[in-house]
Amino acid sequence: MKEILVGLIGFGTVGSGLAEVLQVQAARLAKKVDTVIRLKTIADNRLAALPERFNDVGFTKNAREIIADPQINIVVELIGGIEPAKTFILEAIAAGKHVVTANKALISQHGAEIFAAAAKAGVEIGFEASVGGGVPVIKALKEGLVANRILSIMGIMNGTANFILNQMTDHQVPFSEVLKDAQAKGYAEADPTYDVEGIDTAHKLAILMNIAYGMNVSLADISIEGITRIDPVDIAFAREFGYRIKLLAISRNHGEHVEARVHPTMVPENHMLAGISGVYNGFYFTGDMVGNIMLYGLGAGKMPTGSAVAADVVDIARNITHNSINRVPSLSFRPEHLTPRRITPIEDLRCPYYFRMTAVDKPGVLSAISGILGKNNISIESVIQKSRGQKDAVPVVIMTYEAEERSVRAALAEIDSLPICTDKTVKIRILVDKQDGVK
Ligand code: HSE
Repeated sequence: MKEILVGLIGFGTVGSGLAEVLQVQAARLAKKVDTVIRLKTIADNRLAALPERFNDVGFTKNAREIIADPQINIVVELIGGIEPAKTFILEAIAAGKHVVTANKALISQHGAEIFAAAAKAGVEIGFEASVGGGVPVIKALKEGLVANRILSIMGIMNGTANFILNQMTDHQVPFSEVLKDAQAKGYAEADPTYDVEGIDTAHKLAILMNIAYGMNVSLADISIEGITRIDPVDIAFAREFGYRIKLLAISRNHGEHVEARVHPTMVPENHMLAGISGVYNGFYFTGDMVGNIMLYGLGAGKMPTGSAVAADVVDIARNITHNSINRVPSLSFRPEHLTPRRITPIEDLRCPYYFRMTAVDKPGVLSAISGILGKNNISIESVIQKSRGQKDAVPVVIMTYEAEERSVRAALAEIDSLPICTDKTVKIRILVDKQDGVK
């Protein structure tokens, strides 16, 4: 039986996961794939040697030995970050190797260059594990939903941020302590600001938008807000109003322009995305033919992500065997049909809002605030003002009807400059999912 040989660069959490998946599932894969997939060499310059269970696999500290090995068909890059990962991938492509990567930062920012190089060289790029860990979200969009115009993408795409918000909700644990726990469990990025500031989520949204809409959105086009200003008090108020606070990626397809945003969002508690807890991810797409569809699963971790990388390796092995390389284009759309789209400016967004002002507790405060909101065409749906133990200032919580972001920004700038307001207003957008009639 023909052998497909794999070289792995990077033996960290996901790299060791891939090696274990291929080892544990070897007999099962032999029944599904008509070639033998063999991990030939692993490169990692931080290690002295591989663990004993991999003594049938070659080891080197030098990634270029893998790239230069004429026997290796597929190079798997799992070192992360932009460089040297990008150089290794481009060199592997130039050497005629197929490439598999889990590198969302790289694919979201340099995907166009990498896909073009791969198409030119007639090799494949697999990047399933770059979004959603073990959840086969990219394959679902590229193949399962190929016959749909994707109308919207929404999702909880960062397990660490979701875990933090959940722990804050369920156990009133402070933000910093929960983050340490997520890092210890291996979910958080090397730089956890990527998780909590929404950057990791934005990387994933960019990749999904490019596949869903056939475009090349750049990270700079995405409006990004993280969860660092969310306080347990906001979580408690959200619950009172029947919402859960989630870090959501949202993109709606308006045809000639598309929304692209990542921010904390109040999700109605009866919406499917509100029920995604812990480090789980949820991807909620609306297609014009299929309607609403949700994929749910572990978005991080050694074995789930290893299983997604292995799936790409298997796809490529099957395509090599059946002479069908690039049967499915990298972004599903054929490269000549990728179309630039305008990104909807965030100022044009219309949705209901939650505001938590911090104001002194004295007569006239509410009327001053509501006057400014009214002047900016922002209509109040409900107000809560109660002391939660604060002495000098109290939270004034306002839920609004649908308002325009531009007006909200103008109103809050004015409100925050009032002497009666002692801290910057916390603003959280509220999800209205008209497509499934939740609200
Ligand atoms: N840091 C990411 C998360 C890992 O927490 O979801 C997967 O991209």
